[in-house]
Amino acid sequence: MRFLVAIDGPAAAGKGTISKAVAAHFSLAHLDTGLLYRAVGAKVLAGADPVEAAKALTPEDLQVDTLRTAEVAQAASRVAVDAQVRQCLVDFQRSFAGRDGGAVLDGRDIGTVICPDAQAKLFVTASAETRAERRYLELIGKGHDTTREIVLADVKARDARDAGRAEAPMIAADDAVFIDTSAMSIEQAVARAIEIVNAAYTAQN
Ligand code: CDP
Repeated sequence: MRFLVAIDGPAAAGKGTISKAVAAHFSLAHLDTGLLYRAVGAKVLAGADPVEAAKALTPEDLQVDTLRTAEVAQAASRVAVDAQVRQCLVDFQRSFAGRDGGAVLDGRDIGTVICPDAQAKLFVTASAETRAERRYLELIGKGHDTTREIVLADVKARDARDAGRAEAPMIAADDAVFIDTSAMSIEQAVARAIEIVNAAYTAQN
């Protein structure tokens, strides 16, 4: 049996934490697809051509520890507009999704483009201010030098670019279940996500 969970949503909505928790709960592998775009963005900041960088991406490129900065996030959302870049990254994502047992993938277009056949689809969101505050605390906690203003501007700019692009825009799939985490603790958001995924899991078994 292959069980696929697609988790999409805007910048810093908590997809990463929720996806990891869902993957652990159901013993599934997890792929943070944003890291692929961040890795390409980081290479472009270092002078590479976006399409060549996407073609040549290796698993080691995903381990680079500067991928979480707002600068790389912006570069990621700029390269993510390019249809050719996206195409280069499709096979990697689909083959990850195709592994035995299944997987949890999080990103912007998982439920709509990468895994439209996923058994469970979530769209995780929160107000821009809430998301920016959480990301700010996360970055500061990891020792990054940033401000609330920079993080909020990054979140808003990426949301607009990600939702507005022609190719695979960020949008909830018709059959996605929304979780607005603005007024939820992370524990509550994880519990709600597991509840939704469990309903799909039970229906399949
Ligand atoms: O963690 P956060 O939500 O801030 O961002 P991310 O998931 O790491 O994604 C970084 C950028 O990659 C996004 O702003 C999108 O432009 C792009 N992305 C995408 O286009 N499609 C995906 N499936 C995942 C990320």
